This record gives sequence, structure tokens and C-alpha cells, in this order.
Amino acid sequence: MRSRIIDFHTHILPGIDDGSRDIETTRGMFEKSAEQGVEVIVATPHFYASRDRVDHFLEKRSRARELVEKTIQDCPVQLHVGAEVAFFRGISRAEKLDSLTIDGKDLLLLEMPFMPWEASDIEEVETLIEERGYRVLLAHIERYLDLPGNGHRVGELLELPVYAQINAQSLMDWRKRGRLVRMFRDGKAHVLGSDTHGLHRRPPDLAEGRAVLERKLGHEFLDQMDSRGCELLGI
Ligand SMILES: [Fe+2]
Repeated sequence: MRSRIIDFHTHILPGIDDGSRDIETTRGMFEKSAEQGVEVIVATPHFYASRDRVDHFLEKRSRARELVEKTIQDCPVQLHVGAEVAFFRGISRAEKLDSLTIDGKDLLLLEMPFMPWEASDIEEVETLIEERGYRVLLAHIERYLDLPGNGHRVGELLELPVYAQINAQSLMDWRKRGRLVRMFRDGKAHVLGSDTHGLHRRPPDLAEGRAVLERKLGHEFLDQMDSRGCELLGI
């Protein structure tokens, strides 16, 4: 089957986090994504264990999803639902993680902390993979590369059998671009996401990131990335 273009990281569900504020914004985000050639959107609202209970989050998420499915029926983009789960100490022992994975399968979009990581944090990610059986997709890995005091830990994390997502927007930045393109080329980065939050602030921009990758790595690379994405999502 032909590979599809997937946006792996979006805050497109309305009224659930700091992303889309209402269904009209969500509609606009779907339309803009479709214009960009996106065929599959993964909705990944923020989940913070310190601020929310899983049950409450799931209720909010299903209400938002139902509203989207009821209201936006004319858009050809397929919706999948997961969460952007913020790492917390003890996550490797947390129950109910299954309900936060993408489509309730084994792929977990994990947002690492924006402070230097401990060795035990890396071990917890390893436990999630090796013992709990998750495939871990690291959200916007590029945002941690220059975190002071964290460089060696990023290296350790990327030695694990993880997948890494990069925000399309980061490929627009010529100061970061070369390094990120090399990560894709070397198999250290795997998929793109827009991390879109609305129509004005962080709008859907996947096509712009894809254009950079195509220019630097060729069309065949994009095809490979898309088929890897479909495998990851199980579609
Ligand atoms: Fe995000």
C-alpha cells in the first residue's frame, strides 16, 4: 500500500490543552494540514501526571474527539489519537500508560523534561521499552540537544532503541538545520511533526519541513520516512 504523510505531533483537539481553543480553530487546522498534503494526523494533547488524572484526561479527550468526528466530516484527513506524555520520575512503574499510547497500541509519544536528565531517567525509558514493551517516540528531540549539562544524556538516550520526532519548524532554522538533517540521514531522527498549537501560533507547517528534507536528502528519503511512519503507526 502507498505510504501516507503523517503529522505525528499536534495539539489539534479543541479545548483540551494549550493547543486549539475551539472546534472552528480545529477545523482550520485540519484544512491547513490538508493543504500541506497531510493525510494522517495524530492528535497528541499534553498529559502531565502532576496536573491531571488519567481518567479525567481520557474523558476530556474522548469528548473533544467526538466533537471533531461529529463536526468535521468533510475533511479527507484521517485522525489518530494519543497523548504527549510528559516524563515523570516513576513513569516506568505507572499503571494506565496503555491508555495514553497512540490508538491504545504500543507507541508512546514521550516528552522529556527541560532540565538536565539523571542516569535513572534514561534507565526508566529503557524499562519502558525493554520491560513494559512500549515503542517510545521522543517528542521534538532537537529541543534537548543544547540543554546545558545534558549533552551526554541525550547521547545515552539515543543509544536506546527509541524513535525520535523532530518539529518541522526546527528545520526552518538555518542554524539548526544541518545537524537535524544529519540526524535524519544517520537514522537518529525518524519522523516529523508540526507540534501545531493553532492557526496563528505554531500553525500546521509540515510541508515546509518536508521540503527541507527533500532538498537535502532527496525524494526517496521522504518516501522511506513516510513508510517508516506508517509502520510505526500500524497503518
Ligand atoms: Fe507538543
